[in-house]
Amino acid sequence: MENVFIFDHPLIQHKISLMRDKRTTTKEFRELVNEVAMLMAYEVTRDMPLKEVEIETPVAIAKTKVLAGKKLAVVPILRAGLGMVDGMLSLLPMAKVGHIGLYRDPKTLEPVEYYCKLPEDVEEREIVVLDPMLATGGSASAAVSFLKKKGISSIKFMCLIAAPEGIKRLHEDHPDVPIFCAAMDEKLNDHAYIVPGLGDAGDRLFGTK
Ligand code: PRP
Ligand code: URA
Repeated sequence: MENVFIFDHPLIQHKISLMRDKRTTTKEFRELVNEVAMLMAYEVTRDMPLKEVEIETPVAIAKTKVLAGKKLAVVPILRAGLGMVDGMLSLLPMAKVGHIGLYRDPKTLEPVEYYCKLPEDVEEREIVVLDPMLATGGSASAAVSFLKKKGISSIKFMCLIAAPEGIKRLHEDHPDVPIFCAAMDEKLNDHAYIVPGLGDAGDRLFGTK
């Protein structure tokens, strides 16, 4: 599918496998989420524009390149998206961080918004929305719609594990938004959990169950 990127890097695949293991502790899980987010940041930023500058090295003047163009903001979807922020920031220390709070109503499975705080200049920035799980796609699609309503035009979505149903929904609702994921799984179960997935990402990150 156009605009959908699934990473096959061995390090990413290895770490995702460790995360899936139900014996992985909260501490290990949190570290793994950060590490995978950092590895993914490398690929997600591959198309960032560069400009040529002159820099004086101890030896001579070098014509060399630095990042140009729009500045970045990462926007985790609370709660589980928070686990990916530090990994992103370790490669992109200049990025600002916005937060969108959404939870999935367990009965209707529809996303409910409860919090939003974005950088002041958010519409001038390129946004990477973070959430480890893309299940039905309801939360991701709602978050992107919300950001678009704020006038943001440049949005990417980055997750760890996606269900085909979530990719389809987000892609249909927002074909302009590239989707980056570390793995695409088989399906959703009757409770809209990703199979085989890794369980509830928020609970595993924060030890709430
Ligand atoms: C999880 C996950 C996504 C959402 C994905 O969050 O982190 O935000 O579910 O499901 P969807 O694609 O079907 O919308 P959850 O609602 O469990 O909230 P939490 O992060 O606070 O645990
Ligand atoms: N949210 C999760 O945390 N895990 C799933 O499998 C689906 C939604």
